[in-house]
Amino acid sequence: MQKTLIKQALATDKPVQGITLCGWIRTRRDGKDVTFVELNDGSCLTNLQCIVDPKSQAFADLGSATRGASVCITGNLEPSPGKGQQWEVQVTAVQVFGEADPEAYPLQKKRHTDEFLRSIAHLRVRTNKYSAVFRIRSEASAAIHAFFRRSGFHYVHTPILTGSDCEGAGEMFRVTTLSPGEKDLLKDFFGRQASLTVSGQLEAEALAMGLGRVYTFGPTFRAENSNTPRHVAEFWMVEPEMAFADLGDIMDLGEELVQSVVDGLLTSSAEDLRLFDRFVEPGLLDRLKKLTASPFARVSYGEAVEILERSGREFLFPVTYGVDLQTEHERYLAEEHFGRPTIVTDYPMSIKAFYMRVNDDGETVAAMDMLVPRIGELIGGSQREERLDVLKNRMLALGQQMSDYSWYLDLREFGTTPHAGFGLGFERLIMMLTGIANIRDVLPFPRTPGSIEF
Ligand code: 4AD
Ligand code: MG
Repeated sequence: MQKTLIKQALATDKPVQGITLCGWIRTRRDGKDVTFVELNDGSCLTNLQCIVDPKSQAFADLGSATRGASVCITGNLEPSPGKGQQWEVQVTAVQVFGEADPEAYPLQKKRHTDEFLRSIAHLRVRTNKYSAVFRIRSEASAAIHAFFRRSGFHYVHTPILTGSDCEGAGEMFRVTTLSPGEKDLLKDFFGRQASLTVSGQLEAEALAMGLGRVYTFGPTFRAENSNTPRHVAEFWMVEPEMAFADLGDIMDLGEELVQSVVDGLLTSSAEDLRLFDRFVEPGLLDRLKKLTASPFARVSYGEAVEILERSGREFLFPVTYGVDLQTEHERYLAEEHFGRPTIVTDYPMSIKAFYMRVNDDGETVAAMDMLVPRIGELIGGSQREERLDVLKNRMLALGQQMSDYSWYLDLREFGTTPHAGFGLGFERLIMMLTGIANIRDVLPFPRTPGSIEF
């Protein structure tokens, strides 16, 4: 079978004799003299219109195949006299792979709610909206890899099974081969407690101390019980780590990365983005173009708290210096006060992770969060504490088990360097790119508390 993708077929500038296309029927309309089949193969948003003559063998072979059926169609690609499309296929042969009973097929002609489509996650990829989201995920991944290649970063693969808790927050899924009731960790697979990683950062730091600039892009897991539109238990994180770099360097890197991905997608995913601009977030394309055109706002945590206090807003969680910023605060800053992505720096030490570099004031750390309108935190990162004694004291104060992190401390013992990095939540980036408001709708098979059906 020499197959052509619909995307390729539609890009042609002249008719093609003898073309074969495989896909799923989106709609079928039977007229007296002609049958129209709209075919989609996932290569692009647009369907290809196929014309079947009711007197032909192809029509007989098409049988009762209709919406949802998978077919292979051979024919001639010709200019379409009809409105709405440039090309159509005059069908000469049809092979049906699998029919779909139109009564039982869960995807009906009407527009379904996102909630319903979540319950049929295995089928929703066959709708315009979800196929577009998943193509955008693919394009955004490619744009991220391209950006880092251009910028001299090596792509590294950090482990998913881990013995250390990167964020020190204890929100980890345990991994064990012990039977229920068995408690002796020495008998466990690894002879000690093991978990699914919450971040590849610690291992990325080790690799940066030899490769210079690295990034990971992989799945991460959080057992936090937050049922919000922005949290899932399994998500993908992009984590660059740079040797010989400080906070300013990674703020620049984060801003360049986000702008470069958006800019690339405005071209590579133009058709899919137009769908979201039309049906999901009117004004999306303008918002994305603006985002690439002007620098992001930058503000210290202290200034951010003053802005929030002065705002006159009644927040659900009142703001005072020292509290962690909540999504409502983050959104106020990025959406209303600055009206663009905003990088907040220098948070109080008490609310940030152990590895962040302590500032000269002894109270704040060289942290940065990038907040974006509608979503809140997209990126979290910092300069890392490279001074062995300072790091040890911080870990002791937090009651961390030094023996669990001996290799991490070694990095400061041997050839330590100033270094910095961040983590970008890939699903939140996709939310930003599409205007989709619920993180469950940008992952093919989302995992949330109490939900792992697929
Ligand atoms: O701010 P976080 O927790 O930072 C880290 O894990 C660092 N170790 C990263 C680093 O410096 N290399 O997470 C980073 C980003 C967040 O800004 C957010 O976008 C996303 O990961 N994120 C989540 N996305 C979806 N669901 C969750 N439960 C998330 N938790 C964090
Ligand atoms: Mg964070």
